Amino acid sequence: PHLSTLLSVADFEVVAQKKFSTKTFAFYSSAATDLISHRDNLDSYRNLLLRPRVLRNVKNVSIKRRILGYESSAPFFVSPAAMAKLAHPDGELAIARACAEDNIIQIISNNASYPLQDIVAAGKPGQIFFLQLYVNSERQKTEQLLNKAREAGIKAIFVTVDAPIPGKREADERISAENFVSAMSGAVATNDKKGGGLGRVMAQYIDSSLNWEDLAWIKKVSGLPVFLKGVQTAADAKLAVEYGCAGVLLSNHGGRSLDTVQPAIVTLLEIHKECPEIFGQLEIYVDGGIRRGTDILKTLALGATAVGVGRPYLYSLAYGKEGVQHLTEILKDELECTMKLAGITNLDQANPGMVNTTKLEHL
Ligand code: FNR
Repeated sequence: PHLSTLLSVADFEVVAQKKFSTKTFAFYSSAATDLISHRDNLDSYRNLLLRPRVLRNVKNVSIKRRILGYESSAPFFVSPAAMAKLAHPDGELAIARACAEDNIIQIISNNASYPLQDIVAAGKPGQIFFLQLYVNSERQKTEQLLNKAREAGIKAIFVTVDAPIPGKREADERISAENFVSAMSGAVATNDKKGGGLGRVMAQYIDSSLNWEDLAWIKKVSGLPVFLKGVQTAADAKLAVEYGCAGVLLSNHGGRSLDTVQPAIVTLLEIHKECPEIFGQLEIYVDGGIRRGTDILKTLALGATAVGVGRPYLYSLAYGKEGVQHLTEILKDELECTMKLAGITNLDQANPGMVNTTKLEHL
């Protein structure tokens, strides 16, 4: 179908399922075991109810947002997702080019299909990129990557902490892995004795001994602000403050890691109850299940600075760079409409009173 006929994020998934190879779609869409957390990520937003205010002159709205102090045209970013080249020959390069035009931040995956410097070079001078990191059991490889990141002008490191080992994604494991290579990490996904599972075999270099005391080393070697991606409790968000992190990305890895964990938005509510003071001490982002403008506004109203979008951007690559831009446009339009109908004109006005959380809390 022509790109202009795609009106929602869901429309991209329909196209991707038809267009991508069975293996690619299985790798992208899969989630751990019974898909409970993946589905809960989506369902949690249905159970948060908006409380619009009326008669507030909403003729002009702004959706601009500062993310880690950098101006972004919207309060959302591209969450890091491996192997974008499976969707389109330009893969992460196409995402970088689209983000350059739209002034959107891209978090580059440690398992990207292109080398870091190529992805950054595909963008424009001064474009803001963050890098997602899996710490390699061979620490000197991580050190090399962090040095490259600094040289390439990456602005922050997102250490993924919810996947010391890969989740059990059965849809991915049922189809053979063939020979997929991540130019970034050097990981090669090929079948082993246990069969397929691109996610599983690619993750074999990840150091599962990583712990809180290693964060100082990452900070020192990179010289960059460090975020933790995959924090799932208020207790760990508090620890992130104590260990000097610049922020946390509350996430359950799109339901791909441990199944039956709570959605990130529930962790955000937990922070309100247990340690609201940390909202002023580090930046809090959320990802998992963001598919609509309403999802974005609800999350921001509950205190997040920004949200990440994972699978939809991979699906949008069915149309290359134009697809990525079209998806961004849809989300921006929906967010603007949501703000107008909810009665606010800029994102600083978003506040917890805009969301009724009763239904979600009583599930
Ligand atoms: C991911 N995600 C991920 N996270 C990460 O830290 N490093 C990675 O390499 C990847 N790779 C990856 C591949 C694919 C195919 C998917 C779908 C996801 C997780 C990602 O950053 C994000 O947390 C989720 O995708 C967010 O959920 P939604 O938006 O997909 O629902």
